[in-house]
Amino acid sequence: MGVLVIGAGMIGTLRSVVQYVVPTVSGGETSFPVLTLVLPSGSSVHTSDLTVNDPAVVTFNYPLQNEPNFLLRLGDSSNNDVKISPVTVPIPATGGSFQSPGGVGPYGSVVSASAICQHLGCVPPELRFYSPTSSTFSGKIHCSCHGSSYDPYTGFSVTSGPTKAPLPSITLSYDSSTDTYAATMMVGPTIYGHSSDLTGGNSITTSGTVVTTT
Ligand code: FES
Repeated sequence: MGVLVIGAGMIGTLRSVVQYVVPTVSGGETSFPVLTLVLPSGSSVHTSDLTVNDPAVVTFNYPLQNEPNFLLRLGDSSNNDVKISPVTVPIPATGGSFQSPGGVGPYGSVVSASAICQHLGCVPPELRFYSPTSSTFSGKIHCSCHGSSYDPYTGFSVTSGPTKAPLPSITLSYDSSTDTYAATMMVGPTIYGHSSDLTGGNSITTSGTVVTTT
């Protein structure tokens, strides 16, 4: 009789996939909430709290609980902020497209998108951003589960499969008078594993969503 051996890494991957493939809670929202980005301390996130090309994984939940999204301050290979323009992002799975929101903040370099892979639902750390100076996957979000890559400089578009859809983008607002950020809606494909971005999970009941770094 054959013996099935599953490594610890594979178990972790399967857990990540199952967690997002099988929604376990109902509820949700009827419209996208506006949530201020806050630090674990409760104070608002300011631009100086964000590192250009941060090698760490920086995420927050939106629009519901347990729905992680990347928060990236994008730069060039010298770690200077890069202004991210809105672009038309193809969706290979449907042949359609959508308009990405572009970057916000004083340099137009802060962007956000779902941190749930559109292939089979892997999440960080399997799915993560690699800085432009990285020797591998430079300037891309790469998923080590099956090799998909996305380009955060062009609306989180697909640069290599097997994924057939870009990462759903978060539209951020920026208040220059207070140097603060908020998540206001999502555009693009639906979050992986959900029939709607607004259902399949519990609402965030506070006015802010906490940004965490791991
Ligand atoms: S889950 Fe990311 S490439 Fe398969």
